[in-house]
Amino acid sequence: MIKEYPITNGNGSHKPIVAPAKVRQTGMQKGHVTKYQAFPPVDLPDRQWPSRTITGAPTWCSVDLRDGNQALAIPMSIAEKLEMFDLLVKLGFKEIEVGFPAASQIEFDFIRRLVDEDLIPDDVTIQVLVQARESLIRRTFEALQGLKRAIVHIYNSTSPLQRRVVFGMDKPQIVDIAVRGVELIKQLAAEMPATAITLQYSPESFSSTELEFALEICEAVIDVWQPTPQKPIILNLPATVEVATPNVHADQIEWFCRHLRDRESAIISLHTHNDRGAGVAATELGLLAGGERVEGTLFGNGERTGNVDLVTLALNLYTQGVDPRLDFSDIDHVRAIYERCTRMTVHERHPYVGELVFTAFSGSHQDAIRKGMDLQDLADEALWQVPYLPIDPKDVGRTYEAIIRINSQSGKGGVAYVLENEFGIQMPKAMHIEFGKIINEIADTQGKELSATQIRQAFDQAYLHCNSPFQLESFHREAASQPNQGTIVTCVAEIAVDGVVQELRAAGNGPIDAFMQAMKEELVPDFTLLSYAEHSLGQGSEAEAIAYIQIQTPSGKTFFGASTDTNIELASIKAVVCALNRAMQAH
Ligand code: KIV
Ligand code: ZN
Repeated sequence: MIKEYPITNGNGSHKPIVAPAKVRQTGMQKGHVTKYQAFPPVDLPDRQWPSRTITGAPTWCSVDLRDGNQALAIPMSIAEKLEMFDLLVKLGFKEIEVGFPAASQIEFDFIRRLVDEDLIPDDVTIQVLVQARESLIRRTFEALQGLKRAIVHIYNSTSPLQRRVVFGMDKPQIVDIAVRGVELIKQLAAEMPATAITLQYSPESFSSTELEFALEICEAVIDVWQPTPQKPIILNLPATVEVATPNVHADQIEWFCRHLRDRESAIISLHTHNDRGAGVAATELGLLAGGERVEGTLFGNGERTGNVDLVTLALNLYTQGVDPRLDFSDIDHVRAIYERCTRMTVHERHPYVGELVFTAFSGSHQDAIRKGMDLQDLADEALWQVPYLPIDPKDVGRTYEAIIRINSQSGKGGVAYVLENEFGIQMPKAMHIEFGKIINEIADTQGKELSATQIRQAFDQAYLHCNSPFQLESFHREAASQPNQGTIVTCVAEIAVDGVVQELRAAGNGPIDAFMQAMKEELVPDFTLLSYAEHSLGQGSEAEAIAYIQIQTPSGKTFFGASTDTNIELASIKAVVCALNRAMQAH
């Protein structure tokens, strides 16, 4: 890459010459990495946060309509912003940053719409962002005319890098920007007594700012604003760029809280971005360290890698037994509105909401989940203890049906779970293995996941439609009590063998026994009954029943048969025929 630099020639005229720029190495450095360096730790040997736990929800502030919106390729229209605002209110947000009214007309108009149409509920406070610049602050106050309450969020950047590279200013000059901005806000707020203004100040790039300087500038702002415990200032300490491990963020927050004068007159707010992918962790540790308020967005939308994800944070709290005071009972609805308004998509593996997060592909996981669910169902309101599922999918409006999907990696337990939960078919345990193999073969051949419908079709095909070589045409039985022999049942059955109907008769100690005798005498000389099970497939007298029969052939192989009928006796006879057909087909 080359750059042009204007230089002065001997005759005084400016003439561009081409100077070679330093050639930057491409690709990652190997071995001794000198291009980057570790973020220095905070000197806080008696840090308290590691032994604390989070016991309550912070104050949440959504910045979806500002940090989130500014990071969209196509920013939201007013209609979309209204839809998003309405969603945020319904979810329970009490503080919502609605935009940067001095930066764009649409943001200004949106705020006016909220005010003029009285769309802000009494228990919700809107927040507006503004840089510490006079013209922008004045324009911001124009947008606030007629509001009962508002948080005015003013910021300027404080880190050494920003001071040097972006502003070319020293520390006193940077402090002066903040102080003058807050003085003006104080003056304009006094001129607008009908609107209760809360001040929020952000030393932007706090995460990279020397802690002593961050403290100095915040205290300079406090000196101007004069907050009290009854009317506190919000000090928002942003990890504008996430540059260190979450423990460093926690140390920064604890250090700041411990050194801040007038601590009780300030609300410490966290505003983490996710550059290292640890925004949620950093925020959680920041809460342990003294943070009381959290700014973030739904599903972590926002600049670059996004702001901290408030859905994950809130549901993380919930799964620790803390009421997050945000309601994500219908998470799919929240996602649908989010995706429509932002034109972003939520990843399939996104915590709590992704398409696949309540799905287990692995057989052992499926089995464990099924067992956990069965036990959980027995104990209502019990502590949630289902392996592999940190949250009950029902709590966020997801269904159990989606929990287990089947592919060739899936185990028998998962297949049985799907049949039971989707179709009420409760195969006997030993049958799980037999049917599991059938499903694995199909999944292997198709090379893809099977839906619940395909699993049901495979079950019907393997058992309920297994009609060859034998097909039961009719079955009658008579019972007669014999002295000293209990009840003897005689049966007459018509069986089509490869299409040719034969009549069979035999006696036994029950209808199944009588029918098996008849089959043994005429058609299949040697097999034994190993097990029998049945259950109804619905409720009421017209409900179908399903019967399962397991037989063993002389070679020791076992086969299951299953059949359904509104008459349970007929279902079991057909199940015997099915088991015999499967045994014959296997030869
Ligand atoms: O990330 C950031 O620092 C911000 C500030 C405006 C608070 O968004
Ligand atoms: Zn931000």
